[in-house]
Amino acid sequence: MRIDILTLFPGMFTGPFDESIVKRAIDNDIVNIKIHNLRDWGLGKHKMVDDYPFGGGSGMVMKIEPIFEAVEAIKAQQGSDSSVPVILLTPQGRVFNQKIAFELAKLDRLIILCGHYEGIDERVREHLATDEISIGDYVLTGGELAAMVIIDAVVRYLPGVLGSEESAAEDSHTAGLLEYPQYTRPPAYRGWEVPQVLLSGNHAQIARWRREQSILRTFIRRPDLFEKANLSPAERKMAANRAVNPL
Ligand code: ADE
Repeated sequence: MRIDILTLFPGMFTGPFDESIVKRAIDNDIVNIKIHNLRDWGLGKHKMVDDYPFGGGSGMVMKIEPIFEAVEAIKAQQGSDSSVPVILLTPQGRVFNQKIAFELAKLDRLIILCGHYEGIDERVREHLATDEISIGDYVLTGGELAAMVIIDAVVRYLPGVLGSEESAAEDSHTAGLLEYPQYTRPPAYRGWEVPQVLLSGNHAQIARWRREQSILRTFIRRPDLFEKANLSPAERKMAANRAVNPL
């Protein structure tokens, strides 16, 4: 997968992409992330990228020309395929989730535009962006952190990035449920014991316990997800009973 990021602050991306799993994916050529400085397409001697809003008001608006020209140049580098999706990051976009991460991971190319200042000339939304994504109902100083969040979640889904395909399949949210609790050694610490079933070696019982914990946890913490989850009537009843009478 190739991801191109267009930003006014390329320096913000050093760090998150230089460590851990995303770094490994880059080193293994599973993903190629290119960061482009929008200012390189700025206008005139001062490389202008923003301007005062028509109609007045506070703050600056990102200009249309540098963004269009940058995206066209990036597309040309990729063999002038005009069908490459262009995602604009904005608090007005559809709210990012695991399903969107999974969908984006199927693409082989993606261009991400990081907005800044008071906003972007509306014509970028209308005539260039193919999608608009927000990472949540709060306003960041710009789209850069949102780009990092999205890329991190997407890269985990690329084949060969995680140790086994199962690791992503069992994540919280992948199946519409939160993940079950995990433990490792020691089996007891300061009197706090690991649930006996996990030490039993009985794999069927362990799987049943994990499924129950997953359902129960989702019921208690995220009733909105529980509502939508694909559960049997017996599982729904179990959650309601156990939440009232925990073991
Ligand atoms: N830019 C500013 N706030 C944002 C958000 N919540 N999501 C995506 N991009 C943003």
